[in-house]
Amino acid sequence: MRDNLADHNRPLNLALLGYGKMGRTIAQLAPQRGFEIRLVLDVDVNAGGAGSLTPAAGITPANFKDIDVCIEFTEPKAVLDNIRRVAEIGCNLVVGTTGWHNQIEEARKIVEARGIGMVYAANFSIGIQLFYRLARAAAEAFAAFPIYEPYLTEAHHKFKKDAPSGTALEIKRQVQPAFKGREVPVASVRAGFIPGWHELGFDSEADTVILRHTARSRQGFAEGALYAARWVMGKKGLFDFADVLEKGTGC
Ligand SMILES: NC(=O)c1ccc[n+]([C@@H]2O[C@H](COP(=O)([O-])OP(=O)(O)OC[C@H]3O[C@@H](n4cnc5c(N)ncnc54)[C@H](OP(=O)(O)O)[C@@H]3O)[C@@H](O)[C@H]2O)c1
Repeated sequence: MRDNLADHNRPLNLALLGYGKMGRTIAQLAPQRGFEIRLVLDVDVNAGGAGSLTPAAGITPANFKDIDVCIEFTEPKAVLDNIRRVAEIGCNLVVGTTGWHNQIEEARKIVEARGIGMVYAANFSIGIQLFYRLARAAAEAFAAFPIYEPYLTEAHHKFKKDAPSGTALEIKRQVQPAFKGREVPVASVRAGFIPGWHELGFDSEADTVILRHTARSRQGFAEGALYAARWVMGKKGLFDFADVLEKGTGC
């Protein structure tokens, strides 16, 4: 990992773990946001995943010699091995992969033991982060009127591996406390090439109120991940992207 950060004007050297739809979108946007892609490790060179003899094999001190920060968008079963290896090298990172957050405490131990900084989120869209705040406020308002029943729906492309989406689970986590004793149901669709939408609805016999977020492309996720990558430089600890937006100076 590169340790001379004295020149604040130079681009940050970025490593990408995973070069699928998100990795490629980040690679396209990164030069416009002051990053230089120095290393790309997709599954073929990283050989990751549980059960592999050499998980995260591409993450080596030699490969990371000039790297300032790393962004991970791979698949759930690869994440912890990737975090462990990047942390051993002492590089800060951003993790966008979803479907593994039940292991977040394991990640926290690794991050704290190695003294690195890491930002994670089920959704790096700034719009979704603001949606969470609106969802909490709406849930509090509607929970006071039991004639309204809350529900969540979401749809994504057929290639998405987890369902419900990490974002739907996070919206549920945000709104459920307002509806004590009433479960907020979640329904998922996986079809076609939908970049992703989420709806939080409140339905009564008389009417329906819907809050909806629609991702038009993956660029919003890439913007947020790159913003987090710059923010995490020099930080220590595990941070949710929502905290980053609270603490950050705006995009
Ligand atoms: N947080 C957010 O804002 C956000 C936004 C969009 C997507 N996501 C999540 O991010 C993840 C990736 O999404 P995506 O759309 O980019 O998926 P994708 O197109 O399937 O790309 C994932 C890439 O990672 C590769 N990969 C798998 N294991 C790896 C490993 N151990 N090391 C390096 N590369 C590895 C895959 O290779 P193979 O295909 O050959 O296995 C693939 O090229 C998913 O979990 C998705 O739900 C999060």
